[in-house]
Amino acid sequence: MPRMSALEASFCRSAPWGLVARRMVPWATQGFPVTGDVLEIGGGSGAMAEAIARAHPRVRLTMTDADPVMVEAAQDRLAGHPLVQARQADATRLPFEDESFDTILSFLMLHHVIEWEHAVTEAARVLRPGGAFVGYDLLASPMASLRHHFQEQPMNSAPITPGTIHEELERVRADFHALVTEATPADVHRLSSGTRWTNGQLLFHMFFGYLIVRRLLPLVRLMGRLPEPVSRTFARVLEAGTRLFHLINYFSDRGAARVIHGPRLIRWFDRTVEVLQAQLETEAAAALARGMHMPVSWDPYFRDWMSLAEIYHYGTQHYDHHRQQLTIGRPS
Ligand SMILES: C[S@@+](CC[C@H](N)C(=O)[O-])C[C@H]1O[C@@H](n2cnc3c(N)ncnc32)[C@H](O)[C@@H]1O
Repeated sequence: MPRMSALEASFCRSAPWGLVARRMVPWATQGFPVTGDVLEIGGGSGAMAEAIARAHPRVRLTMTDADPVMVEAAQDRLAGHPLVQARQADATRLPFEDESFDTILSFLMLHHVIEWEHAVTEAARVLRPGGAFVGYDLLASPMASLRHHFQEQPMNSAPITPGTIHEELERVRADFHALVTEATPADVHRLSSGTRWTNGQLLFHMFFGYLIVRRLLPLVRLMGRLPEPVSRTFARVLEAGTRLFHLINYFSDRGAARVIHGPRLIRWFDRTVEVLQAQLETEAAAALARGMHMPVSWDPYFRDWMSLAEIYHYGTQHYDHHRQQLTIGRPS
């Protein structure tokens, strides 16, 4: 989870922000009726939740935030409001049943969420038909982008959608065909740059990334439906096997590249890409947003938690990374 700067975090918890929040509620909710079961995501220290509870004393309000320190501050602040509760929850993985809320509120928080589109998908999932997702946020501006750059929080990172995944798979398929077809025997046997593999072995390894994706997809689909601690524990178990994984990875690619190369490698690559594209077409948006914890030591592109869409995208991140290390066409 991206962390707020210390300055932002303390401002969020401050008394002046509490006063401002009270005045902001009518503007922030834009005249939408705030009734029934209400969820606030990224509610921080509960300043807006408290203001809402005062303005709409009959709503059942669940305020959530990913940061436990914020949640503790909110629990203190909201203690006098019996219909309001504050609990920890990541907006990209809400621990609520489908269609549980009449209104979802999001104030000044989505720009903190790298996977903001997952937060929106999750909000849509837990919203009842006819409900409203209401709030406000920052627009991209040079100042905002600069601050997020220093916090390593890209404001406008391109969302990973089925369309972008499909396109990138088409791109690598054409690229892979050209690489394998044009590589001379000298190219194939030349050492790649920054790895202990030859170009031939590295080409196989670039394909292998997509085989890993195929193996991961059913696992991520399953884990995404189980309680979060299950995948956390599972990732720890996998993490313990990191050394073995790297050894198998290294030697199996060396061996397999001897057998699967040239036109056969292209055929296997095409078949795998086609299977991935066909599966992608059948994935529901909610399924693509679900995910699991990953063993981060296995690969630099694995992150602590990855959605199914990110697993699809991972194959191409892996491909592009190793593409730079090929020394095909370079003088020996
Ligand atoms: C600028 S504060 C806004 C707090 C509150 N909405 C308000 O207006 O006072 C942003 C909040 O978003 C929370 N946040 C960031 N990423 C989150 C995520 N993925 N899920 C839930 N909360 C998140 C942060 O912990 C922080 O408390």
